[in-house]
Amino acid sequence: MDDLQHLKEEFEKLFGKPSALTYFCPGRVNLLGEHIDYNGGLVMPCAITLGTYLLVAPNNDGVIRFRSLNFPNKVDVAINSHLNRDTLMWFSSPMGVLHYLAADGNALQQGYDLLYYGNLPVGLSSSASIEMVTAFAFNELLEAGYEKLALVKMTMKVENDYIGVTSGLIDQFSVAFGESEKALVINCNTFTYQAVPLNLGEYCLAIINSNRPGNVAESKYNERVAQCRQALKYLQQQLPITVLCDIDTETLMEYKYLIKDEVLLKRARYVVEENDRVKAAALLLEQDNLKAFGELMYRSHLSLKELYEVSGIELDTIAEYSRFYKGVIGARMTGAGFGGCAIALVKEDSFDSYKADLTSYYTELIGYPPTVYRSAIGPGVGRLVNPVATI
Ligand code: GLA
Repeated sequence: MDDLQHLKEEFEKLFGKPSALTYFCPGRVNLLGEHIDYNGGLVMPCAITLGTYLLVAPNNDGVIRFRSLNFPNKVDVAINSHLNRDTLMWFSSPMGVLHYLAADGNALQQGYDLLYYGNLPVGLSSSASIEMVTAFAFNELLEAGYEKLALVKMTMKVENDYIGVTSGLIDQFSVAFGESEKALVINCNTFTYQAVPLNLGEYCLAIINSNRPGNVAESKYNERVAQCRQALKYLQQQLPITVLCDIDTETLMEYKYLIKDEVLLKRARYVVEENDRVKAAALLLEQDNLKAFGELMYRSHLSLKELYEVSGIELDTIAEYSRFYKGVIGARMTGAGFGGCAIALVKEDSFDSYKADLTSYYTELIGYPPTVYRSAIGPGVGRLVNPVATI
């Protein structure tokens, strides 16, 4: 299905004409720096080679036709109108993008036929990916002239205000700015970043979808955001800080008496320690010290489990099994937590046995299998090919 030719054939079948342009936006994994983006610190994601494809052709019907190979429901809307937001569907987020583009003076002058296809497992920013691929494509099609950072902010607005899901900026930022074989170190206070070489050498990146059913992440996510705000408020009684990541672990320990609540202190400790870990990790990658970097991944997982409490038996099983598997040098949950995915750095020649052994261990313990992928670290959003459409 990732075969572009096949996607083009599907487009022709659906719309009776060839597509004009093909865009791709990756998903992301967070290597380190989890739950830091809304605490104004440093995060370390990278873009992967799984993501969302968008095939586009203009039409003369004044209609936008949204189609997906992943979802059966489809919709046709007159240009520059939008659906009732109460009925959220897969096409709500791309519609949100068109909504904000129009609100900012970039109304559509003609209709478009759109076909989406995504191959991202849960939790690897599929919604940021679908939003960003739409924003990038229409920025080009309408010659709107936004810089990538403006697209990041616009797609965040879609997520937070249009869809109504609280999130930081890490997802949209990394799928926009990702670079092949580089990790990004993003400063969530200043919206600036640095691309650090991620030389995997004889290792590869394994992505393990826990396949845990249900979704508690959203409510727990909002709870963590609120807890961090509260911890910050306590610290602000004595410290002139605006975000938790303005302080390091040492300062937190000095002022921890300000945070009377034990749970809030655990949350704050996790945040400042993880922020410190990202700083240390960036130096390790510069020095090509992948093993020590992997060690920080394990520590990050443990801290997410014990201090931030956003893991679960499924993600813990993956991280802990990986830790003792020969050929694996680092593993942790990635994303918001509870369910979703974990990542591991696995020796290339151990990947197949790791995949088989982890699958049988996990299945026996959890009752259903995980899905294990291998991914390269790829570039951010872009246009793939450029054949001319005839309409
Ligand atoms: C979700 C959010 C991100 C980030 C991560 C946790 O993916 O969308 O902004 O907060 O959780 O690191």
